[in-house]
Amino acid sequence: LTDTYTLNNGVKIPVVGFGTWQSKDGDEAYNAVKAALEAGYRHIDTAAAYGNEESVGKAIKDSGIDRKELFITSKLWNRDHGYESAKKALDTSLAKLGTDYLDLYLIHWPNPVQFRDEWQQRNADSWRAMEEALDAGKVRAIGVSNFRAHHLDELLKTAKVTPAVNQIFLNPSDTEDEVVAYNKEHGILSEAYSPLGTGKIFTIPELKDIAAKYNKSVAQVVLRWSLQHGFLPLPKSVHADRIKQNTEIFDFELSDDDIKKIDGFHGVAGLAQDPDATDF
Ligand code: A2P
Repeated sequence: LTDTYTLNNGVKIPVVGFGTWQSKDGDEAYNAVKAALEAGYRHIDTAAAYGNEESVGKAIKDSGIDRKELFITSKLWNRDHGYESAKKALDTSLAKLGTDYLDLYLIHWPNPVQFRDEWQQRNADSWRAMEEALDAGKVRAIGVSNFRAHHLDELLKTAKVTPAVNQIFLNPSDTEDEVVAYNKEHGILSEAYSPLGTGKIFTIPELKDIAAKYNKSVAQVVLRWSLQHGFLPLPKSVHADRIKQNTEIFDFELSDDDIKKIDGFHGVAGLAQDPDATDF
């Protein structure tokens, strides 16, 4: 859990993060993050839109773990796209989390429904605010989420800083080959949210056979698949035993054959996403 990838700006990022999407504000998110920190996670992924930044921040504070040992990500929500509003939104996230810097700040979605006819300009303006936050030391790295190639192409026209990360919905049933290739080509790390397909990968029966072979659970095999592809999985759970189980993925290695077999489950659970069609 202390293994790291190095981002394109030299910042080190723990290779597994704890996902908090769909962890409800209050006791649920608080207890989940506390259990995650106790299990050894040092990388916590949240977002303004998850509505749980205060609970996440409180769990972090109460853990007593030195801030410098932690990697904290949050995300700019759709209604806050724009130069001034992005600056304000970052300050709000910092205040809610109770920290004076983020390790990573992401644009959550490329093309929100509020700004359908001006998303290019909104992203460029938000990005400029984020670049300034980087210079000011309020964030250590900046990136995007749910961006496809055409969104990134557009952003790179005006960006001074290349995104360090693109966080996407990425799991064996939705392998996002085109975006992953684009990210790789540009030195952008692919982070995988919902690496277990929000739980739907458990409906793929063949995964049980592969897991049995390694004496591991299906979740562990799928997270290992993510790591062996060089992705950064962000598994979510609100159960302490699963939170711990999802960290025990460094003591085995999937064979190339099994990786290929798992690649072949693309589409099987029917999870593919289109960010431009998402009505946020
Ligand atoms: P729960 O939070 O009730 O434990 P993803 O990370 O892809 O979004 O998947 C999260 C879903 O998978 C949640 O429904 C979570 O349920 C469940 N989950 C997480 N880890 C495991 C595990 N090790 N075994 C079984 N289910 C898991």
